[in-house]
Amino acid sequence: MRLHALRLWQFRNYARAELTPSPRVNILLGANAQGKTNLLESIYYLAALRPLRPVREADLIRWGATEMRLTAQYELDGLTDDIQIRLPLQGKRTVILNEQPVSKQSALVGKLSVVCFTAQDLTLVRGEPADRRRFLDAELSLLSHRYLYSLAHYKRALEQRNNLLRGYLEGITTLDSLPEWNAQLVKYGARLFHARRQFLEQLNALAQSTHCALTEGTETLTLQYLPGLPVRAPLPDKEEDWANALLSALHQSASEELRRGTTLFGPHRDDFLIQVQGYEARLYASQGQQRTCALSLRLSEVALVESIRRAPPIVLLDDVFSDLDPARRRHLVEFLTSRTQTFITCTDLSAFDEATLRDAALFEVQAGTVNRRA
Ligand SMILES: Nc1ncnc2c1ncn2[C@@H]1O[C@H](COP(=O)(O)OP(=O)(O)OP(=O)(O)O)[C@@H](O)[C@H]1O
Ligand SMILES: [Mg+2]
Repeated sequence: MRLHALRLWQFRNYARAELTPSPRVNILLGANAQGKTNLLESIYYLAALRPLRPVREADLIRWGATEMRLTAQYELDGLTDDIQIRLPLQGKRTVILNEQPVSKQSALVGKLSVVCFTAQDLTLVRGEPADRRRFLDAELSLLSHRYLYSLAHYKRALEQRNNLLRGYLEGITTLDSLPEWNAQLVKYGARLFHARRQFLEQLNALAQSTHCALTEGTETLTLQYLPGLPVRAPLPDKEEDWANALLSALHQSASEELRRGTTLFGPHRDDFLIQVQGYEARLYASQGQQRTCALSLRLSEVALVESIRRAPPIVLLDDVFSDLDPARRRHLVEFLTSRTQTFITCTDLSAFDEATLRDAALFEVQAGTVNRRA
């Protein structure tokens, strides 16, 4: 996977910019607030059709402009794709892939793949279950059409079901349509459970070895899926078994649900446990250990995407590089540069060793302009 060319037009603080990246390491150097993260976000948006930060899509349009455009050319399996995205302030986004309009986001699943490391990754370790569910949804949606589709249907079923339960509690609706929403919730919920379980199992296997390498064999990292169900280990293996488990949880909690007016079990209550040396990282790991966990998770994701797609994703590192100690930086660079095209933002070059600098393409980012340093 390699990005050949990128063009931005009225995107964030860029009026117009062009970039021809190197196939290996690209360093984006600039002072604060010049547009480094924005540039990474443009690459992320081309792959995920979602802003990198949790904002409205319209925030991607340059202030005062009425439309933004991104175009890119990338190579995948020896084939070149051209993609263009237009986002107007009013009206719908359009995506054109190889001159063909694309109507659904799912048409881009399996195309450009990107993994982004940011300082906010720490919330994976320190944050709430909702932060970890957001991570699962974001990653699985990039990997699977079926997941993306099932997630949208699950959310809709959950919302309708909760409206119904609340309406009943307030005495304004009957429960006539409850069986229908139960069926939808169970069908799509089982798909999410099953996919998340598989994803976490694969990620766990990879995280153990990446974490071991990052810490030079001194620490172990384990991930454990905690589904939003009253089930004990071993967890169900098949989608059908997840469906039965959810159905029986709904039956068991029926009276409690009617009393509380909300759905008590399902993937919307999922979490996963991150442990270092057998202890919950959220509570017991040091700051540096938590940071390393977050990094291991992302690195494992790179390896997982690589194994699923049979090509490594493009890697974006935003403000994480300079936080690492020299040994961890070296491991990270070795891991990434041997196989991926990488974009690293920084405010100075002191974190890089000579060999990395020699091989890297250096771009200076200043007030919404980007220029390659010769
Ligand atoms: N839609 C927009 N239109 C114009 N400017 C914007 C828009 N959105 C964000 N900006 C501005 O773009 C500037 C650059 O933001 P960016 O996050 O890319 O900075 P950065 O170079 O990564 O800085 P730092 O080193 O502090 O992380 C900021 O000053 C921000 O306010
Ligand atoms: Mg930034």
